[in-house]
Amino acid sequence: MTSDLNGSALTDAVVASFDSGADPRLRMVMAALVRHLHAFAREVELTETDYFTGIDFLTRAGQISSDTRQEFVLLADVLGLSTVTVDLGNRLPDGATAATVFGPFYVEGAPEIQNGGDMSNGAPGQPCLVRGRVLAVDGTPIANALVEVWQSDEDGFYDVQKDVDGPQNRGHLRTDDNGHFWFWAVRPVAYPIPDDGPVGELLRAAGRGPMRPAHIHFMVTAPGYLRLITHIFARGDAYLDKDPVFGVKSSLIATFTEHLPGSAPDGRLLDRTYTTLEYDLVLAPEPDSRRKDTAS
Ligand code: BEZ
Ligand code: FE
Repeated sequence: MTSDLNGSALTDAVVASFDSGADPRLRMVMAALVRHLHAFAREVELTETDYFTGIDFLTRAGQISSDTRQEFVLLADVLGLSTVTVDLGNRLPDGATAATVFGPFYVEGAPEIQNGGDMSNGAPGQPCLVRGRVLAVDGTPIANALVEVWQSDEDGFYDVQKDVDGPQNRGHLRTDDNGHFWFWAVRPVAYPIPDDGPVGELLRAAGRGPMRPAHIHFMVTAPGYLRLITHIFARGDAYLDKDPVFGVKSSLIATFTEHLPGSAPDGRLLDRTYTTLEYDLVLAPEPDSRRKDTAS
């Protein structure tokens, strides 16, 4: 005889329906997802209108997504889920540079830049010299680390959002023997996340703004260290405490210093106002996989 399922018996039955799957991680994730989803629906007393509004939202998020537009990632970003996941995946030792969200504007295969090179490639903006070192947490410089960089121009656009020939304000370089890197780009500005889709509607309905504080993205890779994905944010930016994707960490805020025309610290002669930024990126060691494998 079958009995009608409702309340916690319904939830238990749905959880149990995933029990015979072969993948223990999938079983665990689905059990928690079902329990939390059911608890959420009961907590808000989800109406059928709410339900279909949500389905319509997700449908439109799927419809606007493409190879270059990932509305579900943007949704995870504005819900803070991306940052929760970044924090869970990066429980770093003291002194290591904090990680933050990846964002949608990274492009593989960005040009190689020599230290001191200029990656602005004609993009509008005030010249900005970025200098730093890649270090281990004990202060040891890391030579030959791969430093990948991408950022907006002074109009708040990444090159991939514009109709331009060739990459602008993106590139990769290697640290020198003393762990130093330095390059020219333009001073980044605050810019809106893509808000012409359902996620933008949600922000407006919530009275939230789309503006991210000015920042430069970094991805740093070196053998024996955890890969670091982060940004450096501009001190004083009006949006630091309103980032729609909750990516700001106080340790990632640094001063962009404006200078009158003249000789820059790397010897370049500037006939216009320019900016400098200095920031050291500190990598956490990769966990010792041999020890993990042999641990009982
Ligand atoms: C970005 O900083 O590039 C970004 C991050 C999350 C969502 C949208 C943009
Ligand atoms: Fe960005």
